This record gives sequence, C-alpha cells and structure tokens, in this order.
Amino acid sequence: MLKKVRLINLPRIKDPRGNLSFFENNNQIPFKIKRTYWIYDVPGGEMRGSHAFKESHEFIIALSGSFDIVLQDGISEKKINLNRSYYGLYVPKLLWRSLENFSTNSLALIVSSISYDSSDYIRDFNDFKKIKNATK
Ligand code: TYD
Repeated sequence: MLKKVRLINLPRIKDPRGNLSFFENNNQIPFKIKRTYWIYDVPGGEMRGSHAFKESHEFIIALSGSFDIVLQDGISEKKINLNRSYYGLYVPKLLWRSLENFSTNSLALIVSSISYDSSDYIRDFNDFKKIKNATK
C-alpha cells in the first residue's frame, strides 16, 4: 500500500509578479475532489491526524511552511517532508497517517475524495491492523 503513495508535481507558472500553481478535478490528482480543508495555527510540537480512512483518498500540500507526513501500512513506515506549494502527496485509503513537525505559520491544504463522514475514520491502530489483514 505504501507503494501507491506518491509525490505529485503541480504546474508552476513562473512570473516576475509572483508564481502560480494549481490543480483541477481529475487532472493532476487521481480522484475527483469532494472536499477541501486546511490545518493551520498548529502550536509547536503538536500532531494532527493519527488515523486511517476506510474509503477516502487525500492529496496533501504544504501551502506554506513545512511539516512531515508519517505513513504506516501496518508493516512499514514512511516519513515524507512537505515544504513547497508546487507539489503534494497523494495518500490512498487505508493508510495510517499522522501530520507532525509543523513549522511556525505552516498551512496544510488537504483535498479529499469524499465529503466529511465520521464513519470513514479508523481511529484505533489495532482496528486498523485488523482491517488491513482482512483486506489482504
Ligand atoms: P479530524 O479529522 O479528527 O482532525 P485530526 O485528524 O487532524 O485531528 O477532525 C477534527 C474535527 O473536525 C472533528 O471533530 C471533525 C471535524 N471535521 C469536519 O467537520 N469536517 C472535516 O472535513 C474535517 C477534516 C474535520
């Protein structure tokens, strides 16, 4: 599952007036966008996430500053630092993910393939491992 995780470069329109990047539904990212949310004003040392999703896929960008995304598939772990606004990380469903090590004033933009649904969350790591084993 960690193999499906990938950094996706976004278009960069360089301009002396300031640069511009974008992504569109079904272009650049491999799912249809249903929801956008962002994480900001994170106090030093705090961590967000620490859960998995049953169905939702996500694309995560550091619009400002930097942070780490720690991903686990129940067997191995991968840590990816995001620190530029012109690429992001595609995170498929059924991966345990945490966002940590936020820099001051960092802004994490996240687009999701589904509307908010609390029942899509797997919040217990042991439950996550059981579900992973059952879907093998
Ligand atoms: P949650 O996803 O649990 O944040 P994190 O995993 O980073 O700790 O969301 C925190 C709260 O925000 C939770 O009560 C649900 C709410 N929320 C929404 O209402 N809509 C959303 O799209 C998201 C992501 C969260």
